[in-house]
Amino acid sequence: MALSWFAVLAITTPLGVVAYRNGLALTPQMGWNTWNYFGCNVSESTILSAAQAIVDNGLDKYGYEYVIVDDCWHDSTRDPDTGAPRPDPTRFPNGIKAVADEVHSLGLKFGIYSDAGEYTCGGRYGSLGYEEIDAKTYASWDVDYLKYDNCFNDGQSGIPLVSFNRYANMSRALNATGRPILYSMCNWGQDGPWDWAPTIANSWRISGDIFDTFDRADDRCPCTSAIGCLLSGWHCSVMNVINKMSSLGQKAGPGIGWNDADMLEVGNGGMTKSQYIVHFSFWAILKSPLILGNDVTQMTNETLEIITNDAIIAINQDASGSPASRIWVVNVTGGELQLWAGSLSTGATVIGLLNSSPTDQTIDLKMADVFIDSSAQVKTAKYRLYDLWQRSSSNDTVWGKDIGVVSGEVPGVSLAPQSCLIYLAVPEATASSRKRYDEF
Ligand SMILES: *[C@@H]1O[C@H](CO)[C@@H](O)[C@H](O)[C@H]1NC(C)=O
Ligand SMILES: *[C@@H]1O[C@H](CO)[C@@H](O)[C@H](O)[C@H]1NC(C)=O
Ligand SMILES: *[C@@H]1O[C@H](CO)[C@@H](O)[C@H](O)[C@H]1NC(C)=O
Ligand SMILES: *[C@@H]1O[C@H](CO)[C@@H](O)[C@H](O)[C@H]1NC(C)=O
Ligand SMILES: *[C@@H]1O[C@H](CO)[C@@H](O)[C@H](O)[C@H]1NC(C)=O
Ligand SMILES: *[C@@H]1O[C@H](CO)[C@@H](O)[C@H](O)[C@H]1NC(C)=O
Repeated sequence: MALSWFAVLAITTPLGVVAYRNGLALTPQMGWNTWNYFGCNVSESTILSAAQAIVDNGLDKYGYEYVIVDDCWHDSTRDPDTGAPRPDPTRFPNGIKAVADEVHSLGLKFGIYSDAGEYTCGGRYGSLGYEEIDAKTYASWDVDYLKYDNCFNDGQSGIPLVSFNRYANMSRALNATGRPILYSMCNWGQDGPWDWAPTIANSWRISGDIFDTFDRADDRCPCTSAIGCLLSGWHCSVMNVINKMSSLGQKAGPGIGWNDADMLEVGNGGMTKSQYIVHFSFWAILKSPLILGNDVTQMTNETLEIITNDAIIAINQDASGSPASRIWVVNVTGGELQLWAGSLSTGATVIGLLNSSPTDQTIDLKMADVFIDSSAQVKTAKYRLYDLWQRSSSNDTVWGKDIGVVSGEVPGVSLAPQSCLIYLAVPEATASSRKRYDEF
């Protein structure tokens, strides 16, 4: 007998939304994907070396869990007898299941890529019309995650229901395998997936592809807002994607799913340290999946320091799953100043101050802005602030540096060019007895 509606409705999120229930990604997924660094140059050894490096560098301890092969793992044709997909025999001489087994033996999970179209973006065969056999085959390989792209979709987009049906088909096929497989939709924000993907997927991309650049405008990524974007494109900068994310946080949460700002570029060399800190911090506080896209077998200490900031990761993985909201944005020469705030399950509030311009700037940090939705009492209360990109010397707060108690306003907070500050504001009434971020 089919699951009764009573049972379906009984499992609801805090917002009362009946969401996609494969039980996965109750917090944004974390992992590593081949695409941003290796492109089509993928093989068994690329993936297994990365998996080993994830463990050797202790990244798994921080939550990086899924090891995902992106496009171009395919053989040139499907199996002529069964229609099943099969891997490139040179690049994957032992098949995909052997790779998944090795990844699992390291305590990690394994993900794969396909496309809701006739071809993948890299020109391999897509899954449109082959959803069932493809999902079954992935399950038989013990795959734990599917990134599902949008190239060559034969015009099956432009109307939300048309996109929905195309992506729901694979969702049902995955469900029918009986294996919980995290479903990461990658339709680049077309047709507003935040409105219809929560019942079929765990996360959905909201933009065309990211590029390893901070704020360079590029005509190949023509939209500045995700809403009503007619050409998602690619070569989108970090600032382009942050600005697109700004209105969508209301549509994400635990059991609902996540707005996916695309995979990380940290460590790929196109940005400065402070630009990468903006990239990583905002992906975290916006509750985007955190999928590394660098060569994890060769990382600088700087890259490692950024991607292992446990306080920032803890914000991303906080149980409330509440993406930070942008409170205000103002133009300055060459960029913008922005203030963001988000609530955490612990009762603390995360504050993001962002200067995307190429010059030093100051921001008057007003608690009345941070707590704009709250009562006058909350706005005027005392808060202890912690800077999550500084370490405490005294070790009495493991998670960021205590920078003092504020009430009302911190005038003139300095921000270096193209940088951010991420603060945690803890009500002073509860701060003194607590020592660690996760006790707040
Ligand atoms: C399939 O969907 C049903 C109903 O939403 C859910 O209870 C079940 O856990 C899903 N199974 C898998 C393997 O995702
Ligand atoms: C492909 O990746 C391998 C490592 O897995 C590397 O040795 C090789 O140089 C790469 N080839 C190209 C063309 O980038
Ligand atoms: C999925 O698409 C295939 C091929 O177009 C079709 O045969 C099948 O009925 C669809 N399944 C669902 C559940 O919509
Ligand atoms: C990187 O960090 C390691 C371990 O802390 C240290 O031994 C090494 O000297 C550092 N390398 C550089 C280039 O700073
Ligand atoms: C800020 O600049 C952008 C263009 O860079 C412009 O579209 C927008 O209207 C400006 N906003 C304000 C408040 O001036
Ligand atoms: C710092 O705090 C951590 C966590 O409470 C503890 O494990 C560690 O021993 C402390 N280090 C020092 C030098 O006190």
